[in-house]
Amino acid sequence: MTDDRRPPLKIEALEKHYGPVPVLRGLGFEVAPGERVALLGHNGAGKSTLIKLVLGLIRPSGGHIRVAGHAPGSAPARIATAYLPEQVAFHKALTGREQLTTFARLAGEAPSAVMPLLERVGLAHAADRRIGAYSKGMRQRLGLAQALLGRRRVALLDEPTSGLDPLSRHDLYAVIDEMSANGTAVLIASHALTEVEARTDRIAIMRDGALVADDTLPRLSRQAALPIRIRLTAAEGAADQLHAELGGQRVNGSAVELLCPADQKMAHLDRISALGETVRDVEMVPPSLEDLYRYFCGEDRQ
Ligand SMILES: Nc1ncnc2c1ncn2[C@@H]1O[C@H](COP(=O)(O)OP(=O)(O)O)[C@@H](O)[C@H]1O
Ligand SMILES: [Mg+2]
Repeated sequence: MTDDRRPPLKIEALEKHYGPVPVLRGLGFEVAPGERVALLGHNGAGKSTLIKLVLGLIRPSGGHIRVAGHAPGSAPARIATAYLPEQVAFHKALTGREQLTTFARLAGEAPSAVMPLLERVGLAHAADRRIGAYSKGMRQRLGLAQALLGRRRVALLDEPTSGLDPLSRHDLYAVIDEMSANGTAVLIASHALTEVEARTDRIAIMRDGALVADDTLPRLSRQAALPIRIRLTAAEGAADQLHAELGGQRVNGSAVELLCPADQKMAHLDRISALGETVRDVEMVPPSLEDLYRYFCGEDRQ
């Protein structure tokens, strides 16, 4: 039985050392029901280690983890947790349907749940083919179907779109949204920022085993106070004039780019509209997730 009043995932002062080498250093955070959190960090930052600790596959050197109020690796914690590993490994001799039926039994689901799930992830046509003949992308889809089984409080997805024949991001996010709508807390570990886009509720950034950011994208943007890029297209033959009036950088033949602090956006727009017909078009580009990531990983700080 799961306890719905307890947070799906709660981590406090988590430490992990391999011998003398610290891999996780005082990590703490919570994931609420239905919340989708992107866990970002370079290769080696400690994302997979964190997930293995939550699964109870390895033991922490210090701190606490509770999965729906239970100790990692305990029977109730395992029932409450869906896991999509970085490398999905299945029994090659079984068909997709047979493998998923085995998992369904373990998750306490009826075998009748299996075909709808295979349909859900686009594998119905291959249900009775052996997994040995599946492509990597098909195995990932099967992994996702397995993660959708049962009533999970937490889903841990480790680099869900890495690989040769990846799931399309669109399909993956449809499944993640479905989990979230059912109240499952979803943690998506990734080093590829384009995978998480802005379709998560919160961004947690790990660097060298510690959290360096943990908030919503708009709040992280405000905190970082990175400049907005204003891209102006000049009227025919007016690019030099525009550049002389506003400064910034000439781009191509007819464009000028300005970097402006977020709190000076309106003042800049006033100056730009005062230029009248010299300006043919204005585009405002807010800092990207990649800009923010570089900022919080300390690669961009002046
Ligand atoms: N079993 C292990 N023994 C020693 N060091 C390990 C072990 N597993 C992971 N590490 C080290 O821990 C660090 C974090 O690894 P990992 O959690 O896999 O990072 P990520 O998933 O963010 O790429 C890396 O420096 C890695 O080499
Ligand atoms: Mg990893």
